Amino acid sequence: MVTEICKMTEENIDEAAIERAGRILRGGGLVAFPTETVYGLGGDALQSRSSEKIYAAKGRPSDNPLIVHVCDMKDVERIVKKIPDTARKLADAFWPGPLTMIMEKTDAVPKETTGGLDTVAIRMPENKIALALIRAAGGYIAAPSANTSGRPSPTLAEHVTEDMDGKVEMIIDGGAVGIGLESTIVDLTEEEPIILRPGYITQEMLTEALRRDVEVDRTILDANSGQAPKAPGMKYRHYAPKADLTVFAGDPEAVTEKIRACVREDKKNGRRVGIICTDETKAYYMEADEVESVGKRSDAKSIAHGLFAVLRDFDKRDVDVIYSEAFSRKGIGQAIMNRLLKAAGHHVIKVNTKEEGKTNDSDWK
Ligand code: TXA
Ligand code: MG
Repeated sequence: MVTEICKMTEENIDEAAIERAGRILRGGGLVAFPTETVYGLGGDALQSRSSEKIYAAKGRPSDNPLIVHVCDMKDVERIVKKIPDTARKLADAFWPGPLTMIMEKTDAVPKETTGGLDTVAIRMPENKIALALIRAAGGYIAAPSANTSGRPSPTLAEHVTEDMDGKVEMIIDGGAVGIGLESTIVDLTEEEPIILRPGYITQEMLTEALRRDVEVDRTILDANSGQAPKAPGMKYRHYAPKADLTVFAGDPEAVTEKIRACVREDKKNGRRVGIICTDETKAYYMEADEVESVGKRSDAKSIAHGLFAVLRDFDKRDVDVIYSEAFSRKGIGQAIMNRLLKAAGHHVIKVNTKEEGKTNDSDWK
């Protein structure tokens, strides 16, 4: 298949291209498109055949459900049994935006879209191109991140092309995404709302909007819990670059020193080393072969924005090992560290603590 690439901006939407893309989606084809979080790989959420095509294009296990994207609160009624009060409050506070809510589905949503589950994940994105496309497609677009399964999510149309060229009818290039990490997912099917995937909408923001405690699924904070995460997708190793990635956590100065010592050791042994760091620390790693800053330590949003592109970029660099500094877990830091630790297979070295050494991150918070 030849993939058509259409460039546009939110300020200057190419209506004819959106109309064409809508027709592709209604006809059961696939269109990748920008959202404010990451690029999505879209198909008509209400056609089982479209969802099957999405799984095939991504190489994704079919038990991992897709998010249904809508552009109007009224359209939610058709696909869920009941809209809980919590969902209305959160929609008022955060939609359109980077929040996905899980509710009980109706028969309008095929099981292929929800990976066999009776619940459905729903999000109303903020990006204007995405909203126009959802409308043109008939109201319901199933869209996982537009990467090959296991690779970092795409934050530029070029990343989508790397993974999806020849596998989808169209890629809409809307430039760099704003946020850079996927949406926060909150499960509203139980009495207690639970965060299944941390994101830009933080635990604190949800707690404030609902005026009640909102917990995070323990299994995603604790790699040793032995239980399966409630969001099926969270159990897979994700975002991983090809070279082994290790995260160094602890006092920032001690972390820098420890990474430098490891680099010297690796160089002696003929290994090529890559470093993931921040603008503030980049200059310290001159001895490493490849050094990439993800953003500013003083600006967590810049780190969220840069992380996936740097992980993806390291696949093109010839390195044997990658070392990354850990980042703060406050606010959006919870989402940043969730993605970074998954990319590292939870391989963390704690620095400057009593039991320094290789460990799993479960006891390190
Ligand atoms: O920001 C985002 O959410 C992006 C953009 C494109 O909207 N989409 C995205 O989709 O990240 P994806 O497929 O890469 O991640 C969806 C996650 C998976 O971990 C999946 O297991 C979980 O949502 N999920 C979907 N439906 C679910 C359900 N009914 N119950 C529990 N988890 C669900
Ligand atoms: Mg994904």
